[in-house]
Amino acid sequence: MTQEQRVQPSINEQKESGPMKAADNRVIRMTVNGVPYEFISEHDLEPWETLAHLLRERLGLTGVKVPCDEGACGACTVLMDGEAVLSCMTLAVEADGHAIMTIEGLDENDLVTKAFAEQCEPGYGTALQCGICTPGFVMATKALLKDDPAPTNEAIKEALSGNLCRCGCYTGIARAIQKAVDETSGRRA
Ligand code: FES
Ligand code: FES
Repeated sequence: MTQEQRVQPSINEQKESGPMKAADNRVIRMTVNGVPYEFISEHDLEPWETLAHLLRERLGLTGVKVPCDEGACGACTVLMDGEAVLSCMTLAVEADGHAIMTIEGLDENDLVTKAFAEQCEPGYGTALQCGICTPGFVMATKALLKDDPAPTNEAIKEALSGNLCRCGCYTGIARAIQKAVDETSGRRA
């Protein structure tokens, strides 16, 4: 494994460096969960390396799950500048100049995480069993609530339509998200 180096430039300075060019021997800068990183393309990371691989294998952020590695399940969802992206379908070099957040970067009292963890209710069940899908659902929900703190059920379904749960916890997941929405929008569940 190659060595990562932490650097100090702000994300704004990084954005001013301009649009992404071809992945040659150049410096790739990003923040991950608020920590600035600098990588040398073709030295510290490969041009074909996915963001999911970078996060899991180089930075040890194993909260990023990669069950399918082909864009089909949503479990690898992370935030890029607050927007949900599939990290298995995003090249690491595409994160140049951006702020990445994984589930490890959320506050320990995060409402969405709490709603998933605490969901256990007759008629709805739990929001997770094996937990593989959970980080993806949580991060996709975070992106949704950033833009719309009080989404309709249709908006929730649309935003999370790319996230799959093989354990079939959809009823509990829907209930947990609704509780998080109610908390975020000031309503009671
Ligand atoms: S691992 Fe990325 S969508 Fe399934
Ligand atoms: S809890 Fe197992 S895949 Fe969703």
